[in-house]
This record gives sequence, structure tokens and C-alpha cells, in this order.
Amino acid sequence: MISSDGMPRFELYGFDFWPADFQGYLQTLAPALKQSHFYWTPDDLWALQSRSALVLELASDSPSFLIYQDYEAAAEVFFVFVSPLRRRNGLGRQMMTWAQHHNANSHLKSWTLQVHEQNLGALAMYEALGYQVQRRLDRYYRDGQAALEMEARGIGLAKS
Ligand SMILES: CC(C)(COP(=O)(O)OP(=O)(O)OC[C@H]1O[C@@H](n2cnc3c(N)ncnc32)[C@H](O)[C@@H]1OP(=O)(O)O)[C@@H](O)C(=O)NCCC(=O)NCCS
Repeated sequence: MISSDGMPRFELYGFDFWPADFQGYLQTLAPALKQSHFYWTPDDLWALQSRSALVLELASDSPSFLIYQDYEAAAEVFFVFVSPLRRRNGLGRQMMTWAQHHNANSHLKSWTLQVHEQNLGALAMYEALGYQVQRRLDRYYRDGQAALEMEARGIGLAKS
């Protein structure tokens, strides 16, 4: 949904409370998921609901979403997705920032994630958001390529 102020609207769903129709939406993304630098299937992503939070863009035909897990002092982003036709409009960045600011865990000290070394678009977005590479994980993915582990500290932490 694009509101009157032109900004997308997001909603946060806790683990085990993801909207049922999101499962069907994930299935429609199967071809797009296959073409990209990651190895989640729709079923893998849906299974994350038993332990992960979901940030979902509201009332869009092809909603963008972000899945992350909260640990004691860190949150880990598992997956962020913006519909192909809507990329490079700031939506990914807005959604990441929104998630960081709406997380209620006041103990959170950092956000972490892993990204395929050759996923240059995602890498550029994370860097633009202040994430820094912590280490390289060799042969991490099924194609033999490495993952970069990234971390952002002290940004968007819950207001305490
Ligand atoms: C990665 C992804 C979420 C980015 O979403 P987006 O809405 O297009 O990103 P934004 O428009 O917010 O981009 C923010 C900044 O990131 C950088 N960036 C994003 N995509 C980029 C690309 N393809 N090439 C270079 N820089 C890119 C730019 O610095 C950009 O700012 P700018 O447009 O002002 O130059 C989107 O491309 C996507 O869904 N990809 C497929 C799924 C994926 O790979 N997820 C990450 C793995 S977990």
C-alpha cells in the first residue's frame, strides 16, 4: 500500500503469527527464488515462521518482505525481498530501516546477516545501510561460492 504521503506501509508479525496467505504468495515467488543468489525455497522460507519475525509490506499485489530472527543481543536477517519491478526505489532500504526501528528488543546491540559474495545489489544495499563485512565463509553455498558475514552495530536499536 502506498499511503497518501507516498510512503509504503509495513507490518511486523511475530513468530508463529505470520498471515496465512503469505504462504501462497511465497509459492508464486518460486521462479524468482531459483534465479537468484540464495537457496531458500518457498517452503524453507515459510518454515522460518516457527522462529522468525516477518516484516511485510501491506496491501501490495507483490509485497516486499523481510524475515529475521531475534537473539539475545543480536538480530539476524535471513532474507529480504523486493519485487523485481519495484527495485531501486528505496523500498529495500526503507524496509530494513523500519524493521530496525520497530524491533522491541531493548537488549539488541547489533544486526547481522550473510550474503552471497556475488549478490552485488544486496551487498551494496547492506553497505549503504552501514553493515560491514566481518568475515568470509568459504564454500558456504551450494554453488561453492562464499558468503560474507556482515554486521551493523548501534543502528536502529529499540528505543529503551
Ligand atoms: C537486494 C534488494 C532487497 C534491494 O532492494 P531495493 O528496494 O532495490 O533496494 P533500494 O532501492 O532500497 O537500494 C538501496 C541502495 O542499495 C544499493 N543497491 C540496491 N540494489 C542495487 C543494485 N542492484 N546494484 C547496485 N546497488 C544497489 C544502492 O546503493 C541503493 O541506493 P541508490 O538506489 O540510491 O543508489 C532487491 O534487489 C532484492 O529483493 N533482491 C533479490 C533478493 C535478494 O537478493 N535478497 C538479499 C539476499 S538475503
